[in-house]
Amino acid sequence: MLPIYPSLLCADLGNLESELNKVEVSKSAGLHIDIMDGKFVENKSFDFELTKKIAQLTKISLDLHFMTKNPEQFVLPYLQLKPTRVSVHIEENPSLDFFKNLKEKNILAGIVVDLPTKIEDINPYLKAVDFVVLMSVKCGAGGQSFSPIVLEKIKYVRENFNGDITIDGGINSKTLPLVESAGASSVVMGSAFFTPPQNI
Ligand code: DX5
Ligand code: ZN
Repeated sequence: MLPIYPSLLCADLGNLESELNKVEVSKSAGLHIDIMDGKFVENKSFDFELTKKIAQLTKISLDLHFMTKNPEQFVLPYLQLKPTRVSVHIEENPSLDFFKNLKEKNILAGIVVDLPTKIEDINPYLKAVDFVVLMSVKCGAGGQSFSPIVLEKIKYVRENFNGDITIDGGINSKTLPLVESAGASSVVMGSAFFTPPQNI
């Protein structure tokens, strides 16, 4: 079974402590937090104050996925929360220096490719990043269906990149083996992790 990052977007935020406890006892790889600004995507989620509160409530390592415009600026306050991993979208054309700066702060640096974006765009980033996140849904909401379009993208990246490839969107017990055989090395799991009866 690949390492899993549960996505807090699909948790019951009214019961934050018990939801965080589910993640703690599951021995997951880390806690995936989807930060949305209402501009890069329509939804808004996990502003700095809420993310800070979560960081104070748990010792689980944080995997921050920024679905925001101007991610290089947007991430700055969040860095004081000492996330383990930070990923930003290729569609915002982040600079290579941005990833270098994250690494210098001992933060694993990732690039995210949204579902409609062509995979060849990733080539200039592969030497600069620690990990790659490939979206298997159009980013912006939990609970969507997995798109098999991502499988060819995984194979493409795996041929050119030795680091971690994380798949985000629509992952459950049926789709996880598909991405694993294509070459993925970890997954994000939102609704399938937090919503019964598929709870694992
Ligand atoms: C989608 C987010 C995902 C989402 C995953 O934009 O990046 O992390 O929460 O949720 P599921 O697993 O339900 O697709
Ligand atoms: Zn995500």
